[in-house]
Amino acid sequence: MTVSLLLACRRPVRGFRVHRSARLAASPRHLKPLFITWAAFSFLFLLAAAQEVRPQDEYTLRQPNRLAPFVPTPQRIVEEMLEVAQVGPSDVVYDLGSGDGRIVITAAQKFGARAVGVEIDEKLARASSQRIAELGLEGRARVLHQDMFETNLRPATVVTLYLLTVVNERLRPILERDLRPGARVVTQEFKIPGWTPEKVVHAESEAGVPYTIYLYVRP
Ligand SMILES: C[S@@+](CC[C@H](N)C(=O)[O-])C[C@H]1O[C@@H](n2cnc3c(N)ncnc32)[C@H](O)[C@@H]1O
Repeated sequence: MTVSLLLACRRPVRGFRVHRSARLAASPRHLKPLFITWAAFSFLFLLAAAQEVRPQDEYTLRQPNRLAPFVPTPQRIVEEMLEVAQVGPSDVVYDLGSGDGRIVITAAQKFGARAVGVEIDEKLARASSQRIAELGLEGRARVLHQDMFETNLRPATVVTLYLLTVVNERLRPILERDLRPGARVVTQEFKIPGWTPEKVVHAESEAGVPYTIYLYVRP
C-alpha cells in the first residue's frame, strides 16, 4: 500500500497542472526520509512488543503472579510501622508479601498480636514458617504460602504492605471488599492510589536511610 501511494503521488492527474512545490513535496526524494522514519519506528515498535511478551527470567515464568522481589524492611522501620498502626494484642495483622516473615514475627513477638504472612515464594514461606516454629510463636503467627490476590482478608484488623504503587492499586479493591471499618493499612514508601493517608510518618532505618510510612484507616 505504501508503494502504490508513492507511485500515485508521482503520477500527475490528467487535466491538472501540478504546482512545482506540490511536485517537490510529493517526490520520492522527499518522501524517502519519511519512509525511513516510518520503517525505523515500526521496527522499534515490533522490538518493544517482542520484549514485552518475553518473560523476564525463569523465575517470573514459574511465578507469573510474583509482582515484587524480596526486599526486607529494616527492623527499625518494621517496628515503626506497627507502632504507627498502634498494633496491640487484640489485633490480627496480615503482611501481604511477607518475605522472611519479619513483620509477622515482630507483630506477634513484640506487639502481642496474632499475625499472618502471605508469601508466594515457597522457599521464603517455608523458611519463615520454620523461624516462627523455632521462636515458639506458632500459636500467634503463621505464614500462608499463597498468592495475596487470592487471600481472604476479612479476619485482618491491620494490613501491612511493602509493595509497589501499581501492586497497591491492584490490591485496593480487595482491601475495600474485605476490610472492616476501622481496619488500618500501613504501607512504607509506596502509597495506595485513590486513598488519603490519615498519617504520614518519616523515619530512619538503623543505617540512617530515610523511609516514609503511610497510615490509612478504613472508613
Ligand atoms: C518487598 S518484599 C517485602 C517483604 C516483607 N513484607 C518486608 O517488608 O520485609 C515483597 C514480597 O512480596 C512477595 N510477593 C510478590 N508477589 C506476591 C503475590 N502475588 N502474593 C504473595 N506474595 C508476593 C515477594 O516474594 C516478596 O517476598
